[in-house]
Amino acid sequence: MKLLFVASECAPFVKTGGLADVIGAVPKSLTAKGMGVKVLLPGYPSLAPLMKRAKVVAKFKQLFGGPARVLSARAEGLDLLMIDSPHLYDRVGSLYVDADGADWTDNHLRFGALSYVGAEVARGAIKGWQPRLVHAHDWQAGLVAAYLAQDQAYTPPVITTIHNIAFQGVFPASTLGQLGLDKSLFTPEGVEYWGKVSFLKAGLALSHRVTTVSPSYANELLTPEFGMGLEGLLQMRQKELSGILNGIDTEIWDPSNDPALPAPYSARGTKRKARSKTKVQKFFGLDSSASGPLFCVISRLTTQKGLDLLANCLQGLVARDATLAVLGTGDRALERVFRQAADEFPGRVGTHIGYNEDLSHLLQGGADAILIPSRFEPCGLTQLYGLRYGTLPIVARTGGLADTVIDANEAALATECATGVQFAPVTETMLDVAIGRACDLFKQPEVWQGMMRRAMRHPVGWDKSADAYLDLYTDLIDS
Ligand code: ADP
Ligand code: GLC
Repeated sequence: MKLLFVASECAPFVKTGGLADVIGAVPKSLTAKGMGVKVLLPGYPSLAPLMKRAKVVAKFKQLFGGPARVLSARAEGLDLLMIDSPHLYDRVGSLYVDADGADWTDNHLRFGALSYVGAEVARGAIKGWQPRLVHAHDWQAGLVAAYLAQDQAYTPPVITTIHNIAFQGVFPASTLGQLGLDKSLFTPEGVEYWGKVSFLKAGLALSHRVTTVSPSYANELLTPEFGMGLEGLLQMRQKELSGILNGIDTEIWDPSNDPALPAPYSARGTKRKARSKTKVQKFFGLDSSASGPLFCVISRLTTQKGLDLLANCLQGLVARDATLAVLGTGDRALERVFRQAADEFPGRVGTHIGYNEDLSHLLQGGADAILIPSRFEPCGLTQLYGLRYGTLPIVARTGGLADTVIDANEAALATECATGVQFAPVTETMLDVAIGRACDLFKQPEVWQGMMRRAMRHPVGWDKSADAYLDLYTDLIDS
């Protein structure tokens, strides 16, 4: 079965967060199960080397202000389609914002173009390759369903996946014409959202099915607290909404074969994890004499991730003789807070502001535990990497974090199934309690070691979830 993925990120080529990891991994699992998957991406500068050796498979004379070509190449086990359209994507800055951190003013056109080309490929723009189904991801691909909906001819069904409902792609009503969308779609049942154009809403309203990345988040999305204004629409579409848990690429994230670690280790022998710990302590300037656990954070520094709460728990963490290594970037105020914390608690808190893939692997290898106090978390991947590396996740009980970590409560410890610590509600007090619980467990090496081994054996790959996607695709095509 031929399947088109439409997304704005894909690891290892272009990544700002977990979306990239997912798009870089699921197609491989689906391909192994017999699907023919192509991934359509904007032709960002980081794809230039690939685009140079790619084949032209479609051309557009005019794509929102300039020409465009669709290029095809195979790399890292993926079949990629890249939109070579320099006026939209060839620029210095990051994917969504300019060098000053402001959204690119033409983001509606940049991602409208991604969606438009996705729809055209779905309609057969590539000779000899027409997908049976389109799988669109997040707001950047939300208009695929809209462009297909305004076509009277046969078009393949569309699934839209919500990776994070906090980002909705809302633009002024005047963009409707610029995007070439039919006025008839500007209704509450279509792309209209409080008098504006919403890309994500369009995807949720007009797709044949809607999924999100964990069962708990699928339920949470139906509530005003988590639905961020779209809960009413999702309630109406509840029958077509489901949550399929993310997995991880277990080849890229494998402590027994990870070039970023000084020594490999596995669930059968975790001793050599200590080598990574030493390297982390050196890098972050942390005392190796501390008797408590080495916690880490690997995260975007945003309100979603609840790290402002952690900033207020540092006194308690240090008082328990624990240490903390923070790798993150994002909110300037939070960056400052963690830089200052490193000054305030020398040898106890170490901070590296920036985005560093290798360092994230080393931290997963070297830390004892990973802290994820998110206010909401559609799935979360760093807790899955933590499980795989025996770096026990200390997580807020929300979304995918709730679905993937087994809390070390009395019953779970007695029956030997705990893999981490959960806390709720997401407050400073409860985070502090969770840190305390982790420190107490760490004082019992046998218990901690048992949890580590169990965590490392916890299935975190894509196999089961890829089957769930396959069932969904088959269902949709048969219906
Ligand atoms: P989100 O997509 O909401 O940011 P996820 O947990 O799903 O959260 O995915 C985050 C991904 O980004 C993970 O692969 C994580 O390792 C990575 N990541 C986040 N911050 C950094 C950073 N500063 N350096 C390297 N990798 C990071
Ligand atoms: C989003 C979510 C995160 C999820 C990722 C991949 O960025 O914030 O929870 O893991 O998408 O689906």
